[in-house]
Amino acid sequence: MFVGKGGVGKTTSAAAYALLLAKRGYRVLVVSIDPAHNLGDVLCTRLSGEPRKVVDNLYAAELDYNAVIAKFVEELSEKLHYFYRHLKVFNIERYLDVVRYAPGVEEHALLEAFIRLIDRAERDYDYLVIDPPPTGLMTRILSLPFISIQWVEKLLEVRKAILERRKMLERVMGRLKVRIGDREVELPTDASEDPVFKELLSAYKIYQRAYEVLRDASRTRIYLVLTPEELPLLEALRVYNFLKRFRIPVGGVVVNRVLGWEMARGNPILEAEYRRQENILERVEKEFTGLPKALLPYIPQGLKGLASLEVIAEKLGALEGFRK
Ligand SMILES: Nc1ncnc2c1ncn2[C@@H]1O[C@H](COP(=O)(O)OP(=O)(O)OP(=O)(O)O)[C@@H](O)[C@H]1O
Ligand SMILES: [Mg+2]
Repeated sequence: MFVGKGGVGKTTSAAAYALLLAKRGYRVLVVSIDPAHNLGDVLCTRLSGEPRKVVDNLYAAELDYNAVIAKFVEELSEKLHYFYRHLKVFNIERYLDVVRYAPGVEEHALLEAFIRLIDRAERDYDYLVIDPPPTGLMTRILSLPFISIQWVEKLLEVRKAILERRKMLERVMGRLKVRIGDREVELPTDASEDPVFKELLSAYKIYQRAYEVLRDASRTRIYLVLTPEELPLLEALRVYNFLKRFRIPVGGVVVNRVLGWEMARGNPILEAEYRRQENILERVEKEFTGLPKALLPYIPQGLKGLASLEVIAEKLGALEGFRK
């Protein structure tokens, strides 16, 4: 996954890296999970939620945001209907309208889509390259499994305690029953029969899986992307610290739009730009010691088509890809 400040070249790097891996003979899926997709533009193809072949070995897709969130809300609403079916007074329909825009829904929906992507990639591809959404949203998605796992662990404990109490009552009163509409339903006392417990457990498994994949350096690498400028460097450092805190492996640093001296020489503005850049590159070296770095040249005519991506792709070879 390539992360960094807006406009630094995340999509370009992700597309170029995917191309490089495909050229090396790996089967690659590159997916944009940025709500404002432009992966298709970079690869010069129209993309959708379903992977589509770009060149040999390379498949690409753009996550269908609306569909992902609609699916999540629909599943959630089915569950809410089921779990709150005894509460007639509770106007669930009105509540569901609010769910779509509730805080965290987007992140949870994306995390689930992310896990589905990983499952699919593990089955059908050698590599999954991700073009992420802006840093803020991405860090929230990445931290979600670590935070949610603690919540769900606590909720599982609470549920176990409830089931224990029910068991105690049952010893005194016999099978516990509640009336839902005109039906009498027996209350489960065993975790294996309790739909709430099962639901919590399935959420737990999703987070656990995301957690394991994200922390496994033999499977996951995050690459920090920046341009040789102050603010992109500061943002890359912030993400780096965030990733270290959650022990998510960082695979290297991509410095994009690096101005060559031949290009700057003789032009006072560009020469000043070049010196400023030298200072940033020194700091990059110091701040990210030990990490592989790829410097991508500034391409004045812009990046158009797969051929220009290949120039960049070659340079990305410096980020030792993990071999299978
Ligand atoms: N090395 C380069 N030389 C010249 N132009 C470049 C270079 N890298 C990227 N660009 C151009 O800069 C623009 C931004 O690049 P890109 O879309 O890859 O950035 P991004 O980090 O994905 O942006 P966003 O945060 O909006 O998703 C694009 O127009 C791209 O073609
Ligand atoms: Mg982008």
